[in-house]
Parts: sequence; structure tokens; C-alpha cells
Amino acid sequence: MNIPYHRSVLLIVVPLVVLCLPAISDAESSCISCHTDLPVDELSQPAQNFTADLHNLAGFGCQDCHGGDPTVGMDDYELAHSASKGFIGVPDEQEIPGLCASCHADVEFMKQYDPKLQVDQLLEYRSSHHGKLLAEGDDKVATCVSCHGVHGIRPIDDTRSSVYKTNIARTCAGCHSDEDYMAEYDIPTKQFAQYKESIHGRKLMDEGDLAAPTCNNCHGSHGATPPGLTSVSNACGSCHANNLEYFNQSPHNDAFAMMEIGKCETCHGHHDVEQPTREEFGIGEDSKCLDCHSEGDAGYTAAKVMAEGYDSLETTLDQARELLERAERGGVDVSLGKFDLHSADDALIKARTAVHYFDTTKYNEVVQAGLIDAQKVIEQGHEAVDDLEMRRIGLAFTIPVILLVALALYLRVRQIERTKPYA
Ligand code: HEC
Ligand code: HEC
Ligand code: HEC
Ligand code: HEC
Ligand code: HEC
Ligand code: HEC
Ligand code: HEC
Ligand code: HEC
Ligand code: HEC
Repeated sequence: MNIPYHRSVLLIVVPLVVLCLPAISDAESSCISCHTDLPVDELSQPAQNFTADLHNLAGFGCQDCHGGDPTVGMDDYELAHSASKGFIGVPDEQEIPGLCASCHADVEFMKQYDPKLQVDQLLEYRSSHHGKLLAEGDDKVATCVSCHGVHGIRPIDDTRSSVYKTNIARTCAGCHSDEDYMAEYDIPTKQFAQYKESIHGRKLMDEGDLAAPTCNNCHGSHGATPPGLTSVSNACGSCHANNLEYFNQSPHNDAFAMMEIGKCETCHGHHDVEQPTREEFGIGEDSKCLDCHSEGDAGYTAAKVMAEGYDSLETTLDQARELLERAERGGVDVSLGKFDLHSADDALIKARTAVHYFDTTKYNEVVQAGLIDAQKVIEQGHEAVDDLEMRRIGLAFTIPVILLVALALYLRVRQIERTKPYA
């Protein structure tokens, strides 16, 4: 580690500063008292930031990571830093995982503070691509402090933490999107750019939907490797359970395994998952099915039948909705119809998931259920509209009658007035 300031300056400045510092009480750490006011950012910031660090709040001090003696007087910083007091200076990248893990992998020790906290970070880290490369001497990979920072570490569920869910992608991108930094490696640097634009990135980072995944949902927090085919679809399936379950029952399950292609990424991608549309199945230009199937084979026929089913459900629903709206505008109560429309709408949503059966019979069951509900709504809609017509016809008959009666009354009144003798 190179510290970018001139030590000779310190030889003059430091004794002066140290002389001016107030004497410290026993309870205070001389590391903190002295470092807080040192005139070099690299030396003072660790102490200043440490105030908010959860390790400080949990009662740990500088010496718990750096060694040294925080109790020696302010006039003896040589002694505070002495190797005989266990001072290790600034740990380098190779030493950091072991240093953090000296507590974090110690089950008995950690239990005293937070029994829920996992203690497998080092184990996981060593299994990761980062950890393996570090062991080979590559210091550019992420270590504990690249992701967590140091001296200002906050609980992971604090929104200001560098690994709070909505901040993780930017933390990883700090290296992975830096073309210069990553130049010597043979991997792309567009993961974050793609993720940010994906449905997942937009949900999480723009809309704050914490249910959407970020980097560590697919890569793990400490075990980051390119996920294998099985682990990716299991990751997708941990949130999209029905899609995975249907896929596993589908003819694609064995076929994709044989082709050694991913269950989900084959159609949806991974960093760039988009909101798919009906156009992605069926036999139109944008159909993913036609990447592998062609006219004449069973997959093609299935794609065609499923798309027709979906479209007829959608058209029927539109008709039903329009009828209800007409009746409602005319003042007829359509709450029952609206209720049935809801469950027919649900079928359309279910059909989007049922695509993953890749089976016309199972798909059509969902579509049929929707069609039956939609048909019910249409009948109710027709009744409501008929009702409306009846009222109109009724109105058309009653208005002339009322007018006639009014006219008759008017004439009668005039007649009475005329025959009245003048007073
Ligand atoms: C009286 C002031 C003073 C006290 C007390 C003090 N330091 Fe320092 N510390 C310094 C100065 C000045 C430097 C920079 C010069 C140097 O590296 O020796 C420094 C440097 C360091 C460095 C960087 C070392 C390097 O190799 O670059 C670390 C880490 C550090 N101190 C930790 C501690 C810890 C932990 C304690 C308490 C056990 C402590 N300091 C107590 C003044 C102090
Ligand atoms: C949880 C462990 C931990 C604690 C507690 C801790 N440090 Fe550090 N410190 C580190 C690590 C790890 C590094 C190396 C960071 C890196 O390589 O980016 C470091 C780096 C430093 C450096 C060198 C900074 C630089 O930019 O060159 C100084 C100075 C320092 N620490 C002082 C302190 C002081 C003073 C305290 C107490 C206020 C303290 N540290 C508390 C782990 C710790
Ligand atoms: C590549 C980035 C990265 C590295 C390297 C890393 N962490 Fe983490 N760490 C994370 C993320 C992301 C989380 C948040 C997990 C979550 O939200 O569930 C986390 C969570 C944690 C937690 C909270 C408990 C847990 O396991 O979820 C601890 C403690 C922790 N890390 C310690 C470490 C230690 C010690 C090291 C080094 C051996 C380390 N981390 C290395 C990214 C990293
Ligand atoms: C001296 C022991 C010790 C060392 C060394 C240490 N930690 Fe911790 N750390 C703890 C303890 C204890 C907790 C739990 C504190 C609590 O729950 O109040 C903790 C909590 C954490 C958490 C928060 C987990 C959560 O619940 O959100 C992170 C992140 C973390 N440490 C990272 C690190 C990193 C990174 C290093 C190395 C630079 C490190 N720790 C070194 C003892 C240590
Ligand atoms: C300090 C910089 C740094 C940070 C921060 C970082 N990485 Fe890395 N990561 C690297 C480097 C360097 C490699 C090695 C690239 C290689 O070997 O091709 C790597 C490799 C990887 C790989 C394996 C790529 C491959 O196929 O070779 C994955 C996956 C990965 N990182 C994910 C993550 C995730 C997820 C995060 C955030 C939680 C993260 N990284 C944070 C620097 C970083
Ligand atoms: C929805 C799951 C998912 C999310 C979220 C995700 N990844 Fe990936 N990532 C993958 C899959 C799957 C691969 C493997 C691609 C392959 O082997 O072809 C991969 C590959 C990688 C690689 C290896 C190089 C490459 O591009 O193929 C890196 C590095 C990486 N991801 C980093 C990240 C980072 C950084 C984030 C967050 C910004 C992230 N990933 C978010 C699933 C995901
Ligand atoms: C941590 C949970 C999680 C993981 C892991 C996950 N997703 Fe998602 N996914 C979501 C959430 C939340 C949404 C947004 C849901 C919504 O509002 O429709 C979403 C949206 C989607 C959408 C668009 C949905 C729509 O209504 O059009 C697709 C497609 C998708 N994910 C596929 C995948 C694939 C493929 C993977 C694995 C590579 C994956 N997801 C991993 C939670 C997850
Ligand atoms: C052969 C291509 C293909 C495969 C493989 C595939 N999907 Fe889909 N998926 C689609 C199509 C096409 C749609 C759009 C259906 C629509 O909009 O009507 C879709 C829609 C979705 C949706 C949005 C609808 C919903 O269910 O909420 C999600 C989420 C989704 N897929 C997840 C997955 C997951 C997870 C896997 C892996 C288990 C997977 N998909 C495998 C083609 C595929
Ligand atoms: C990545 C290539 C690929 C894509 C994309 C794909 N399939 Fe398939 N599909 C296969 C393979 C391989 C088989 C098994 C061999 C066969 O029967 O053609 C298969 C089989 C099927 C079967 C069973 C056929 C039978 O013989 O009973 C159906 C149904 C099917 N696919 C429907 C679809 C639909 C619908 C889509 C689009 C949403 C789709 N497939 C997209 C590769 C694919």
C-alpha cells in the first residue's frame, strides 16, 4: 500500500499537532483522539468516519483490526504503533479477508453479538471467483472492504450501506463497469448498463420495488461466480415459482437439458430481462418459438394454437368490457358483471404464466376458464344493455303521454279562467 503523502512533512507537522492535543482520559482511545485531528485526510478520515461505524457502536476500537495500544499517552505514538503491541499497520488486500474473518468466522465470538448473523463469509468468499484470484495473487479483485467499505461500515439493512439492496448494483459496477480497470480481463463490462435498463433494474432502482433482484440474488453475496445453468434457473424460480414449476413439467425440460441451455435465460436473457409480450410466442415475426421450431413440427403447431387461444380470450374480454361500460354510462348497475370480469382478467394473467407448460391442453384449460367467465360477463352485459334499451323505449312512450296530459290540463285551466265572471 502506497500512502500518497510525504512522510518528511509528517515528521514536522505531527509532533506539533500532537503537542497541541488535549490530554485524554483513560476511557478514550488515543488512536481516535490523535487521528481525528491529524492534518492528512488518509490519517484523519478513518477516525472521523469511525464514529458512525457499527463496529465502534458495538464497542470495538481501531486496535481490534490494526493492533497497537490505545491506552498509551498521546505523547508516545511510537509506542501506540509498536509491533510489540501487535500493531500491523495497514493490512493489504491479501490480509483483509482473514482479518475480517478473525471475528466473522468465529462462531462462538459472533454469537455473543448477533446470533442470527451468518459466519460463512470467508468460506463463501474463498469459493468465489474473487477469492480464487486473490489466492493466486491478483489484488484487483473485490475483497471485503471493496464491497463494504471500512471505517464507516453500517448494518446491511441501513439504506446508507454500500450493500443495501438498492445500492449493491452500483457497488459492483464500481469495478465491473470501469473499462480501464477491467481492461486486462477478458469479460464484458456492460452488466450494470444492461441490468439498469432491465425490468428488474427499473423495478428495483427506479420504483424501489425491493422484491426485484439485484446482482447478489443471482451471484450470491460472497460466492460470486458466473452461475451455472441449474443455479440460474433456480434463482429465477425462487421468485417466479410457477414459471419454473410449469417449465419442469414441460417437454422443454429434457430437451433443454440435453442441449445444455438454460431453462429461463434461453428466452429471457439474464442481465437484460425484459417484460415479454404476447408477440414473443405464436408464429409472428417476434416469436421466440420460431428460433427453434418451424412449420410442420409439433412445437410450431402448439405455438399457433396457444397464440390463437390467447388472442380469442383477449378479444372476448374487450367485448365484455365495452358492453359493461356502455351499460354503466346509461346508469345500469353492473357491479356483478365487473366482478366476473375481474376473474376473466385474472385468467389472462394466468395464461401468461401458463405459456411455460409449452403444452396446448394445459394452456387451453386456463384460457377456457377465462373464456367461460368472459362469456358470462357478455351475457350480463347484453342483459344490462337490453335493460337500458327497455328504459329508453319506456321513456319514449311515456314522454308523449305526459306531454298530452300537461296540454290537456293547460287547456282546461284556460277554459276555467275564461268562464270565470269578472270581479
Ligand atoms: C499521538 C498520535 C497517534 C496515536 C496515539 C496513534 N496514531 Fe496512528 N498514526 C499517527 C501518525 C502521525 C501516523 C502517520 C505516520 C506513521 O505512519 O507513523 C499514523 C499512522 C497510522 C496508520 C497507518 C500506518 C501506515 O503504515 O501507513 C494506522 C493504521 C494507524 N496509525 C493506526 C493507529 C492505531 C490503531 C492507533 C491506536 C492503537 C494509533 N494509530 C495511535 C498518529 C497516531
Ligand atoms: C473493522 C476493522 C478496522 C477497524 C476497526 C479500523 N480499521 Fe483502519 N483499516 C482497516 C483496513 C482493512 C484498512 C485497509 C483499507 C484498504 O485497503 O482500503 C484500513 C486502513 C486504515 C488506514 C490507512 C488509510 C489509507 O487510506 O491509507 C488508517 C490510517 C487507518 N485504517 C486508521 C484507523 C483508525 C485510526 C481506526 C480507528 C478509528 C481504524 N483504522 C479502525 C480496518 C479497520
Ligand atoms: C463482492 C462483494 C462482497 C464481498 C467481497 C464481501 N461481501 Fe459481505 N456482503 C456483500 C453483500 C452484497 C451483502 C448483503 C447481503 C444481503 O443483503 O443479504 C453482504 C453481507 C455481509 C454480512 C452480513 C451477513 C451476511 O452474510 O449476509 C457480513 C457480516 C459480511 N458481508 C461480511 C463480509 C466479510 C467478512 C467479507 C470478506 C471475507 C465480505 N463480506 C466480502 C457483499 C460482499
Ligand atoms: C473484532 C471483531 C470484528 C472484526 C475484526 C470485524 N468485524 Fe464486522 N462485525 C463484528 C461484530 C461483533 C458485528 C455485529 C455487531 C452487532 O450486531 O452489533 C459485526 C458486524 C458487521 C457487519 C454488519 C452485519 C449486519 O448485521 O448488517 C458487516 C457488514 C461487517 N461486520 C463487516 C466487516 C468487515 C468488512 C470487516 C473487515 C474489514 C469486519 N467486519 C471486521 C465484529 C468484527
Ligand atoms: C474491487 C473491484 C470489484 C468489485 C467491487 C466487484 N468485483 Fe467482481 N470481479 C472483479 C475482478 C477484477 C474480477 C476478475 C475478472 C476475471 O477474472 O475475468 C471479478 C470477477 C467477477 C465474476 C466472475 C466473472 C468471470 O466470469 O470471470 C463475477 C460473477 C463477479 N465478479 C461478480 C461481482 C459482483 C456480483 C459484485 C458485487 C456484489 C462484484 N463482482 C464486485 C472485481 C470486482
Ligand atoms: C437475474 C440474474 C442476474 C442478475 C440480477 C445479475 N446477473 Fe450477472 N450473470 C447472470 C448469469 C446467468 C450469468 C452467466 C452468463 C453466462 O455464463 O453466459 C452472469 C454473468 C455475469 C458476469 C460474468 C461476465 C459476463 O458478463 O458474462 C459478471 C461479471 C456478472 N454477471 C456481474 C453482474 C453484476 C455486476 C450484476 C449487477 C449489476 C449482475 N451480474 C446481475 C445472472 C445475473
Ligand atoms: C429476487 C426475486 C427475483 C429473481 C431472482 C428474478 N426475478 Fe424476475 N422479476 C421479479 C420481480 C419482483 C419482477 C417485477 C414483477 C412485476 O411487477 O411484474 C420481475 C419481473 C420479471 C419479468 C417480467 C414480468 C412481466 O410481468 O412481464 C420476467 C420475464 C422475469 N422477471 C424473468 C426472470 C428471469 C428469467 C430470472 C432469472 C434469470 C428472474 N426473473 C429472476 C423478481 C425476481
Ligand atoms: C421458450 C421460451 C421461454 C422460456 C424457456 C421461458 N419463458 Fe418465460 N415467457 C415466455 C413468453 C413468450 C412469455 C410472454 C407471455 C405473454 O406475455 O403472454 C413469458 C413470460 C414470462 C413471465 C411474465 C409472465 C408471468 O408469468 O408473470 C415471467 C415472469 C417469465 N416468463 C419467467 C420465466 C422463467 C422464470 C423461466 C424459466 C423457468 C422462463 N420464463 C422460461 C417465454 C419463455
Ligand atoms: C431453444 C430452442 C427452443 C425454443 C426457443 C422453443 N422450443 Fe419448443 N422444443 C424445443 C425442443 C428441442 C423440443 C423437443 C424436440 C421436439 O419435439 O421438437 C421442443 C418441444 C416442444 C413441444 C413438444 C412437441 C412434441 O413433440 O410434443 C412443444 C409443444 C413446444 N416445444 C412448444 C414451444 C413453444 C410454444 C415455444 C415458444 C414459446 C417453444 N417451444 C420454443 C426447442 C425449443
